[in-house]
Amino acid sequence: MENGLIVTKIKDGTVIDHIPAGRALAVLKILGIKGNEGNRVALVMNVDSHRIGKKDIVKIEERVINNVESELITLIAPNATINIIKNYEVAEKRKLRIPDIVVGILKCQNPLCITNNDPEGISKFSSVSKVPIVLKCDYCDTELTEDDVLRQILS
Ligand code: CTP
Ligand code: ZN
Repeated sequence: MENGLIVTKIKDGTVIDHIPAGRALAVLKILGIKGNEGNRVALVMNVDSHRIGKKDIVKIEERVINNVESELITLIAPNATINIIKNYEVAEKRKLRIPDIVVGILKCQNPLCITNNDPEGISKFSSVSKVPIVLKCDYCDTELTEDDVLRQILS
C-alpha cells in the first residue's frame, strides 16, 4: 500500500517487491532491461517499508521472469518477493531463497582459478553464509561477498 500513491497496479506482468533501497537499477540490469524493449516498466525507489525500512520496487508489464534471473536477484536482494500478476491479481508470490550452489552465472575473482583459464570451465560457488551472503569458489576457495556480486552485476 505504501507505494499506492506513486505507481498504480499493473494488469499483467511481474512486481519485484522488497528490494533493498538503491538496488532497483541492479535488478533491471539482471533482467537486461534497458528501456527500449517497449514494455511499460515502473521503478519505485526509497519508499518506506515496515519490513525493511526503505525499499525499491520494480514493476514490469508483460514479462515473467525465469529461474536464473530469480537466483541472481536473490543474491543482491535476499528478501525480495516476486509477484506474478495476472489480470490485476497476484497469481503467484515467490519468496526467494538464496541457493546453496550458484553455477555458471558469476565469475571467480581469482585470475588463476581454473574456471578463468580452462575454456570449458564453468564457475561454481557454494554459499557458506547467507546473512551476509558469502559465496566460495568450489575450485580455489576464493570468496565473493554481496558487494562483489553487486559489482559483477553492475559492471
Ligand atoms: N501489485 C501491482 N499490481 C497488481 C497487484 C499487486 O503492482 N495488480 C503490487 C503491489 O503494489 C505490491 C506487490 O505487487 O507492491 C504485491 O502485492 P500484494 O501481495 O497485494 O501486496 P502485499 O500483501 O503488501 O505484499 P507482501 O505481503 O509481499 O508485502
Ligand atoms: Zn575460483
